[in-house]
Amino acid sequence: MVSPLSVVLLGGGTVGASVAKLLVEQAQDLSARIGRPIVLNGVAVQDIKKSRDGVDPKLLTTDATKLAQSGADIVVEVIGGIEPAKTLIEMAITHGSSIVTANKALLAEHGAHLHKLAEEKGVDLYYEAAVAGAIPLLRPLRESLAGDKVMRLLGIVNGTTNFILSKMYSDGANYADVLAEAQALGYAEADPTADVEGFDSAAKAAILAGLAFHTNVTSADVYREGISKVTAADIAAAKSLGYVIKLLAIAEITPDDLGIIVRVHPAMVPQSHPLASVRDAFNAVFVEAQAAGQMMFYGRGAGGVPTASSVLGDIVAAARNRVAGSLGPAQSTYADLKIRGIGEAVTAYYLNLRVADESGVLAAISSAFAKHDVSIQAVRQDGVGDDAGLIIRTHKATDAKLQATVETLSKMPEVRDVIGVMRVEGGAV
Ligand code: NAP
Ligand code: HSE
Repeated sequence: MVSPLSVVLLGGGTVGASVAKLLVEQAQDLSARIGRPIVLNGVAVQDIKKSRDGVDPKLLTTDATKLAQSGADIVVEVIGGIEPAKTLIEMAITHGSSIVTANKALLAEHGAHLHKLAEEKGVDLYYEAAVAGAIPLLRPLRESLAGDKVMRLLGIVNGTTNFILSKMYSDGANYADVLAEAQALGYAEADPTADVEGFDSAAKAAILAGLAFHTNVTSADVYREGISKVTAADIAAAKSLGYVIKLLAIAEITPDDLGIIVRVHPAMVPQSHPLASVRDAFNAVFVEAQAAGQMMFYGRGAGGVPTASSVLGDIVAAARNRVAGSLGPAQSTYADLKIRGIGEAVTAYYLNLRVADESGVLAAISSAFAKHDVSIQAVRQDGVGDDAGLIIRTHKATDAKLQATVETLSKMPEVRDVIGVMRVEGGAV
């Protein structure tokens, strides 16, 4: 009689409870796919009295350390945050367990250290659920595209902000009202900072960039702007020009092939771009690879059951490796590309200015662009009382040149107000 593979869960909340339920319900099928029985031996939580649908109360414990040190074949960490998750994972690796985690914050900060430890101890470290929940994305980047050269990733990797921006676009509502609605519906947390200020997307961008460009990238390497300053006027202007506004996570190789730029910020995307049709809380990542060309991964980025699908996929992968006596692919950081600043990013811009409606003003404004070597692509002028509203789209230039142009414009007496400034991405598809 073969002994079953043992799994323990650290965390039994939104994701953990769904994993526990599905693991038990589907044990027979999963065992058949793995080639050996698999059994759930414990679930560590904080509050043992809380009711958890489909989780056998006999499996619950508050002693996460004991489970982490149990030597289970697979330890699944779904507590979240840095501590105690990091220490528990280190303990589990040291005790010979393979790790499955959904923890983007931890991986984006301490991924290299955990990978090294796992490699030293000969165990697996899988984290498909850490980016874009249910969407198979990290495995395709690490394995299916391992023979190609990824040039650029553009992703909508945060459901909360995509829900807010989609609602602002469809209803013309302002940011504060839609945020309150998102909180009432349970999409946004009571403290929405991690989502709306782009921290969550930045952690995910770091993980994606690391895998795509074979380089160690942490959250601190990611340029970050959130959506809290996006106004209803920005959205209306974008709509009138044939664009939508999305919070994008972008990772790209620099033209000299020696560096990468990783950034998270709101951007105008043409309505014809596949990412423009990603609405509500859905996620999608658009990948451009040298040989494969363009492709998009789309689906649910959050939710207990969808995210549990990714976690279970990783459990099966780690379990199959145990049965075969092998290990999955380790982290690849051989390229060690330099992380370059946002100033080197090459992007187009949209500017919304309120200017004096007098002769010579347009010439003065266009000379400010010329001074910084930024080429104007299109200008639209509307009367606004005694002033004029100017919408300007630029050709691509480095972000540093565009920022310098904006600074010059904001000091010019002819410019009454710089109402909106936004990068434009996803030009030609
Ligand atoms: P959650 O609902 O807050 O669950 C966290 C769980 O950890 C709870 O069961 C909690 O116990 C338990 N816990 C907290 N501290 C503990 C400790 N010291 N010892 C033992 N147990 C402890 O979080 P979640 O939404 O499931 O998220 C888990 C992870 O998945 C995070 O890394 C998150 O980023 C990631 N993730 C979540 C989603 C999603 O849609 N929710 C999607 C993708 C990735 P109690 O239940 O007793 O409070
Ligand atoms: N807060 C995240 C989101 C959950 O809104 O997408 C999934 O990581």
